[in-house]
Amino acid sequence: MLYSEKESLYKTVNEQLSFLLEGEPNVLANLSNASALLKSTFPNTVFVGFYLFDGTELILGPFQGGVSCVRIALGKGVCGESAASLQTVIVGDVKSYPNYISCDSSARSEIVLPIVKNNKLLGVLDLDSSRVDDYDEIDRKFLEEFLVILLEKTKWDFSMFEENV
Ligand code: SME
Repeated sequence: MLYSEKESLYKTVNEQLSFLLEGEPNVLANLSNASALLKSTFPNTVFVGFYLFDGTELILGPFQGGVSCVRIALGKGVCGESAASLQTVIVGDVKSYPNYISCDSSARSEIVLPIVKNNKLLGVLDLDSSRVDDYDEIDRKFLEEFLVILLEKTKWDFSMFEENV
């Protein structure tokens, strides 16, 4: 089978993620490296990162890109929409999407994938591109696979950071 350039990049990215996270369960480290891997592979990306669900709303987690909005309510923005529906949301042109929260004026299209384990919402993975219509079914397929690898390798536990305040 012949792969498109995007598919080949994603195949490599997902293999790299697997190696990168091998034997390392730390959630903060793994989310940080996962976002760095995507940002460095796809040059049109202006933001890639995680919003984490605290039981009430989404809060900005590890990411690569410019300063971004911190708290997003369920249902609000593309991230909140994906989190509330537990569905991947692709927006081809953010400028004509009413439920869009603008954090970076250079963002033109967006894909947000929910992160779910044992039917529980953990957060979302959000990518923004400087190009209109940059995301499609290939991104959905490989990013969903990317999240499966991430969840498989990572212990979703932030308690190691709770002491010594
Ligand atoms: N555009 C997002 C907000 C987060 S930033 O893109 C990083 C949204 O509409 O939810």
